[in-house]
Amino acid sequence: MKAPVRVAVTGAAGQIGYALLFRIASGEMLGKDQPVILQMLELPLEKAQAALKGVMMELEDCAFPLLAGMVGTDDPEVAFKDADYALLVGAMPRGPGMERKDLLLKNAEIFTVQGKALDKVASRNVKVLVVGNPANTNAYIAMKSAPSLPAKNFTAMLRLDHNRALSQLANKAGVPVADIRKLVVWGNHSPTMYPDYRFATVDGASLKDRINDADWNANTFIPTVGKRGAAIIEARGLSSAASAANAAIDHMRDWALGSDGEWVTMGVPSDGSYGVPEGVIYGVPVITANGEYTVVKDLPIDDFSRAAMDKTLAELEEERSGVAHLL
Ligand code: NAD
Ligand code: LMR
Repeated sequence: MKAPVRVAVTGAAGQIGYALLFRIASGEMLGKDQPVILQMLELPLEKAQAALKGVMMELEDCAFPLLAGMVGTDDPEVAFKDADYALLVGAMPRGPGMERKDLLLKNAEIFTVQGKALDKVASRNVKVLVVGNPANTNAYIAMKSAPSLPAKNFTAMLRLDHNRALSQLANKAGVPVADIRKLVVWGNHSPTMYPDYRFATVDGASLKDRINDADWNANTFIPTVGKRGAAIIEARGLSSAASAANAAIDHMRDWALGSDGEWVTMGVPSDGSYGVPEGVIYGVPVITANGEYTVVKDLPIDDFSRAAMDKTLAELEEERSGVAHLL
């Protein structure tokens, strides 16, 4: 049996936390041979801590063979101590009358504190996934607040958008979702994201040629994927949770265990490719192996794609300048 690894999860008693922790403890994220110690962070509010206690009781009641230990805390430095993986889910949701800017600033405080705590106490190789919105900018803040950790270890979740796009494409083309390769969602996890299937294949043949419908791409596919989060909120009265947790598992599993040569979308600090300034956390296609991701480079970008990629970049740059004074 392998030695246990430490997995920190923030917002552990929230909706996504509840859909996520049991799957991590059952080995779906890091493998059925990898014991885990769960280190769970919640707000220092009586209600949040009581809910976290209940979640921990349920985890205990599952008697997961791979669950080697649990820590529940309201202190980021306890939650992140020696963490090998950190899933930053907890964030302040947008309340009535709140502008996006207010949300950005409120969450900037949270991710500054958590970035500093990661910097101080986490494993030097910690792999960080930010789920809490606005995910790309929160990941940027955490990365900037943790200067002693490698910047490449800070990522944002675009995998839910990737998975949503896969299902829309599979339905449209009448092919199994598992047969689609080489999809990417560029940019910000927000309605400006650009899901791009120009390179996608099914059984080695072009998916774009098979669909052959530019109007559907521009006027149905892209807006459906971009507004899917809002559509779920409208339908459920709550934001996506099981699908978000599932995407977080996919993201971390592929990062840790490899994507077998397949493209997956991750929000990663830009290395300057595709005209995205260095450091901006931007959704790109990556291939993962041996615990590292490699950006798929030199894809041709046509005018339509350039405009879409610049639009989502402009939004990220605006978000970044909105929090610059805090960093
Ligand atoms: P939720 O409100 O059900 O749970 C959030 C939990 O985080 C709460 O229990 C809260 O007490 C806790 N929390 C808040 N601030 C915290 C802090 N500073 N430290 C520790 N815990 C804290 O929300 P949810 O549905 O689980 O969603 C969580 C976040 O994920 C939201 O920001 C949501 O918008 C985002 N989200 C992102 C994606 C994505 O694809 N990136 C998808 C869905 C949801
Ligand atoms: C999602 O994509 O489901 C969420 O990010 C939606 C939201 O705005 O909270």
